[in-house]
Amino acid sequence: MSEHNIKTINMYNSGGALEYIGHKEIDPETEKWERLFNYVDDQLKKDKNKKIIEFGSGCGQLSLMLQNAGYDVIATDIVDEFLNEQNKIGINNVIKYNFLKDDYDSIFDFKTDLIVSWRNPHLDMDDMKKLFDVAYNALNDNGLLIINFQNADVHPEAEILPNGTKYNYKILEDKKTKEKRFYAYYTKEDIDYLRKGMFEVQEYHNEGGKEKKNWHVLALRKIK
Ligand SMILES: C[S@@+](CC[C@H](N)C(=O)[O-])C[C@H]1O[C@@H](n2cnc3c(N)ncnc32)[C@H](O)[C@@H]1O
Repeated sequence: MSEHNIKTINMYNSGGALEYIGHKEIDPETEKWERLFNYVDDQLKKDKNKKIIEFGSGCGQLSLMLQNAGYDVIATDIVDEFLNEQNKIGINNVIKYNFLKDDYDSIFDFKTDLIVSWRNPHLDMDDMKKLFDVAYNALNDNGLLIINFQNADVHPEAEILPNGTKYNYKILEDKKTKEKRFYAYYTKEDIDYLRKGMFEVQEYHNEGGKEKKNWHVLALRKIK
């Protein structure tokens, strides 16, 4: 787990999570959540027997939609305020889990069909590699990883860490929590490197922003 991820979690624990949760009232992003739900549902061919674990579920909107549609879903996070919010909105299965640190097999006694990691833009290349390794171990044969990454092509200003991560630290002026936040940006080639030998691409597209290219979105299928 990198110093960047530790700083991110500290930021959420010291006010950032409550602010993130409060933001839902101002902008519920209903359309975005419906689009993501439909994407997940399509990638699973609407097979409600599939087991789903969401990594870093935040406020839990996606997990709740999947649960309401009949999927067997577990929401997770490492920040208590987010876990409380997930319980509050009615998610039945909520588990405290740090996907970069905790041992998957000691916490979950089964392999899953789908892992979703949505808007986890604070992970550098080493953390992301770890996430891919964890997801590979956690998935059944032919299981899916649905994941998005901020697109490095729209961040030419990014700096580069010794491990190759394109990144910057930003203070978000519209947020009360004035700590610098770590953001990592990925190219399509970085993602090919991360998935090499483990996952094949089932679906890929870009979305977000005026030109619809702020994010890479992928459904990756585990290779046996
Ligand atoms: C930007 S938020 C996104 C939340 C949600 N997926 C969404 O799209 O709104 C990132 C989330 O990942 C969680 N997170 C970051 N690092 C984590 C880690 N190592 N283990 C578990 N959760 C983590 C944060 O607490 C936060 O809820």
